[in-house]
This record gives sequence, C-alpha cells and structure tokens, in this order.
Amino acid sequence: MNFELTEEQQSVKKVVRKFVDKEIIPYIQEWDRQGQFQPHILKRLAELQLMGVCIPEEYGGVGMDYNTLAIVCEELERGDTAYRTAVSVHTGLNSMTLLQWGTEEQKQKYLVPQAKGTKIGAFGLTEPNAGSDVAAMKSTAKRDGDYYILNGSKTWISLCDYADHFLIFAKTDHDLGSKGITAFIVERTFEGVESKAIKGKLGIRAGNTGEVFLTDVKVPIANRLGKEGEGFKISMSALDSGRFTVAAGAVGLIEASLEASLKYCHERSTFGKEIGRHQLVQQMIAKMSANLEISRLLVFKAGTLKNQGKRNTKETSLAKWVSCNAANEAANDAVQIHGAYGYSDEYPVERFLRNSKAPVIYEGTREIHTVMQGEYALGYRQ
Ligand code: CAA
Repeated sequence: MNFELTEEQQSVKKVVRKFVDKEIIPYIQEWDRQGQFQPHILKRLAELQLMGVCIPEEYGGVGMDYNTLAIVCEELERGDTAYRTAVSVHTGLNSMTLLQWGTEEQKQKYLVPQAKGTKIGAFGLTEPNAGSDVAAMKSTAKRDGDYYILNGSKTWISLCDYADHFLIFAKTDHDLGSKGITAFIVERTFEGVESKAIKGKLGIRAGNTGEVFLTDVKVPIANRLGKEGEGFKISMSALDSGRFTVAAGAVGLIEASLEASLKYCHERSTFGKEIGRHQLVQQMIAKMSANLEISRLLVFKAGTLKNQGKRNTKETSLAKWVSCNAANEAANDAVQIHGAYGYSDEYPVERFLRNSKAPVIYEGTREIHTVMQGEYALGYRQ
C-alpha cells in the first residue's frame, strides 16, 4: 500500500487548485447569490482536460486513473459543489457509462466529444415519483420500426439546460419491473425534448438542475445503450462511477469547512483567548480533521478497486455514505464555529452547509446507503 500521490496526481491537484482559487472562489459568492450557473467554467474545464479524466486517450480523454478523477472532484468541490456536480454527471454518470456499455459507433459519436468537453452529457434516471425506487419509473419507450418513441419526464437533472446528450432510462416493458427498463442516448436536438431549471433550491444554487420533458421523442435504435431490459443494471453501474465522484467531492467540502474553520479559530477570540483554544471548538475541529482522513482513504480504496477493474459497488457506497454524512456534519460545525457570522454569506460556510445537503440525498440517499451497508454486513447483498 502506498499512501503517496504520484507525481502526475500531485501536478493535477496543483492545476485544479490553482484554477479553483483563481477562477471560482473569488466569484462564487455572487454566482451563488444570483443562482446563476456559469457555462464558461465548463469550457475552462475542457481546456484544462478535466472533462474526460479517466476516459482512455483513444476516446478523447486523458486516460488517467480513478484516484486522479477523485482528486479533481475533491479540488473542484473546495470551490463549489456546483462544478463538481457537473463533472460527476458529465463524466461519472454519462461518459463512464458510455465507455462501459457503448458500441464502438456510440463511443465515436458521443463519448469522444464528451471526453474532450466539446459536448456535454447528462443523466436522466429520476422521475417525479421514482427517485430511490428506480423501478417505479413511468417513462416509456415504444418500438416503432427503426426507432423508439420516448415519452415521460425526468427531474432533478443536473446540467439539464446545458447538456447536448442525455442518458435516458425508460420502460420498454411495464410488466417486468426493473428488468423492463432500457437505456437510450437522447440528443437535445431531437424533436420533443425540453428542459426547465428548478428555482428556489436550498443549495447548489450556482448549479443548473431541473426537469427534462420527453414528448414523442423519436430515438433511433442505434441510440439504445445495451440491450432491451438492461437499463436497471446500466443505471446501477453508472451510479458506481457517479457515487465515487460525489464521495470524492465531499472530501473537498470537508477540507473547505476545515480550512475556513481553522482560519477563523485563529482570528476570533473569546474569554481572552483564540477560540481554537477552547476544547469544545477543538472537538469539532478534531472530528472534521479525522473525517477528512477517513473519507479520503475510503474514496482511494474504492478508486484503487476501480483501477484494478474489480466490482466496487459496496466500497463506493460506503465511501459515498461516510464522506457525504461527514461533509454535512463538517459544514454544520463550521457554521457553529463561526457563530453568528457563519449565518451570513459574508463567510463561505453557510453555502457549504446548504451545498452539503444535496449529496446526502442524491445518488442514493443516506438511508439507501445505510440499508445497503446493513445488507452487505448481514450477507443479504453480495
Ligand atoms: N453494476 C452492475 N449490475 C448491478 C449493479 C451494479 N452496480 N447493481 C445491481 N446490479 C444488478 C444486480 O446484479 C442484479 O442483477 P440480476 O437480477 O441479474 O441478479 C440487478 O442489477 C438488481 O440488483 P439489486 O438486486 O441489487 O437491486 P435492488 O432492487 O436490490 O436495488 C437499490 C435496490 C439498491 C435500493 C437500488 O434501487 C438503488 O441504488 N436505488 C437508489 C437509486 C439512486 O441512487 N438514484 C439516484 C438517481 S441519479 C442522481 O441522483 C443523479 C443526480 O441527479 C445528480
């Protein structure tokens, strides 16, 4: 076991940190206040070759390992959850899934431009009445000659207004439950595709999230990903990648909460000493610091299994569950340490707290991961 980052990983970390410090952190408070996603950041991520980190070079990516992708996500979320979410959805949920399940033709047509960042990918699984319970989805795909006709609506879709390609899951057979779901690559330009952003979110206000409506969308058979009925497995394998990037991002949020808290601990004095000298404050700092280490190790363990091509659903779920809970707790404690100042957006920690809530809900709620881990421990899930 080697706990050192490679030279390449150190240099990627440096590049992303510099980008985030210069091009996101100085502006993010205002972007968050305005609730405005900045598409120019996607262009910059593409220029920095961060939109296809572990996609092989032959498919337009840079062919780095999974732990390098984790480092990218960690550093991005130090800036803001919105841009890490963009990479999670574009790379984790969409591109990695095309890499695993796509035909050569699909990879050339859709994956190559996505890995280069010239086209953006999104993921459409969740519906108004089907979140955790994927099999309850109502969207349909009916075969009609050389096409499928898709109807339905998807919600909480990150990058809904900016994606060029959506990975959409719909039922080809209602009677088969989860085995009746099929995956499709749907282009925004296909007639009958519309999107609408959701306003008034608690957090990730600088991100773009919303609904995608599909009305009689004609999707060529060539755009079916995998076989009919394989959609549930494809969605679960996509979540193995997506959850990994969410977990890595949460590490960055813990780090950001800790950095802000350490700074404030040295600036603010009460009862004649720096607040860092008070043991109850130290307790919160110690917890953040320990959870940063624990979460990062769990992410790297899952990433190492991925690098070895081993199934990692259990380890990825554990990393996502532990690190997202820890990030939520760290952000909450960071606000507490900042006292009343933490309650205002003069300091970044209130944004961290608001942002930390979505990752304990999306890509498997805290409860789904708790149950999965319980089932793994009891031997009910392999
Ligand atoms: N890779 C490949 N195959 C997989 C798999 C994986 N990771 N996970 C499961 N499968 C296969 C299984 O092997 C099984 O195959 P067989 O039937 O051939 O044996 C089949 O899929 C069914 O698997 P399970 O029995 O594990 O399925 P389940 O019904 O017990 O799963 C669940 C239940 C774990 C709760 C699952 O439904 C789940 O994870 N729900 C949460 C969904 C979720 O995370 N939604 C998030 C939406 S996306 C999002 O949030 C993104 C965003 O907007 C930013």
